Amino acid sequence: MSAEAFDAVDVIVAKRDGHRLSDAQIDWVLDAYTRGVVADEQMSALAMAILLNGMDRAEIARWTAAMIASGERMDFSGLSRPTSDKHSTGGVGDKITLPLAPLVAVFGVAVPQLSGRGLGHTGGTLDKLESIPGWRASLSNDEMLRQLEEVGAVICAAGSGLAPADRKLYALRDVTGTVEAIPLIASSIMSKKIAEGTGSLVLDVKVGSGAFMKDVDRARELAQTMVALGTDAGVRTVALLTDMSTPLGLTAGNALEVRESVEVLAGGGPADVVELTVALAREMLAGAGRPDADPAAALADGRAMDVWRSMIAAQGGDPDATLPVARETEQVLAEADGVLTALDAYAVGIAAWRLGAGRARKEDPVQAGAGVQLHAKPGDRVRAGQPLMTLHTDTPERFGRAREALVGAVSISADAAPERGPLVLERVAD
Ligand code: URA
Repeated sequence: MSAEAFDAVDVIVAKRDGHRLSDAQIDWVLDAYTRGVVADEQMSALAMAILLNGMDRAEIARWTAAMIASGERMDFSGLSRPTSDKHSTGGVGDKITLPLAPLVAVFGVAVPQLSGRGLGHTGGTLDKLESIPGWRASLSNDEMLRQLEEVGAVICAAGSGLAPADRKLYALRDVTGTVEAIPLIASSIMSKKIAEGTGSLVLDVKVGSGAFMKDVDRARELAQTMVALGTDAGVRTVALLTDMSTPLGLTAGNALEVRESVEVLAGGGPADVVELTVALAREMLAGAGRPDADPAAALADGRAMDVWRSMIAAQGGDPDATLPVARETEQVLAEADGVLTALDAYAVGIAAWRLGAGRARKEDPVQAGAGVQLHAKPGDRVRAGQPLMTLHTDTPERFGRAREALVGAVSISADAAPERGPLVLERVAD
């Protein structure tokens, strides 16, 4: 006779038949999966049943708690500063973490950004920062706490101890067509953020072709689910739904995005990157009890740049080093006169990836200088023959496949009026 509290098949059948899972079933199935007692094929079936039949708020909260319980929890309560963190669901050209973390730290708020590497068409924050000579992503917990106390901001690799059940389950979902289940996405993201121990959290939920969530209704449902999970766990959480139909800023690629982030920290840079950085900073500062802080002023007057320089130097990076540049470039030209009405984020993300900015398997290297630089954005007037994009790579045989990704990505209209849609679409709070 088995010493296990449940039989995995009974749990799968319960969810398959549309029933809610009990707290005890959820605790058991995640623990038993982490121990290897529930097999991958059984967890795959359960994940598919969850994708098809959903989970209610209490089930998702319990599922998240069980994932947190599978690993360690960090503790920032010894810091003299309040903590605030941001999570983006990922988009093309999304370099916002780079200017945002030092900007929020200007106001005495500690920003622990545990980040990842990119896989697929969206870039990873660590890959971007690793284009800075000397910069190192791995810190011990003690080094991280010291940097948070002394500098106020840290962007580093998430340790393997946080929510190990999620790592196993996420890899399984990736190969079983179950990534898209909102209860599983929400619990995956929030288990790591709650285990990390931040006091407040702002979620940037991307909507559009370059995002995980292609339509606003699903993005809103994901945002509401995550905000509820955060709130129930005692983390002050809000979400912004933001447009990802076109890339953020004018660059997609590692060193290209660092350069653009430094422009923003120097008080310049593309208007959309500045707008979103300031909007997210305001939310983070309000969540950390600093509602009157003026982040736009701290970007303009160089205070955020000072923290950036300390943050990079504290992790071995040289903030004055020349950033890598790709060996070869090619331009993509406008085919007509008119107003650029669309420049598809997903296509640009795939092109940057094929140029060498991203990886297909997690052990692949990335090219620091590769990527796409945009010379026009939707809403701009363009002329036939004008450069719309510059493609950068060290390996010119990649240009052809990158150009293929961009077929159909650009729309130019002779009679449209120049106009830009809003970047922040909605705010979601509990
Ligand atoms: N990011 C995560 O961490 N988990 C998901 O399920 C999806 C995106």
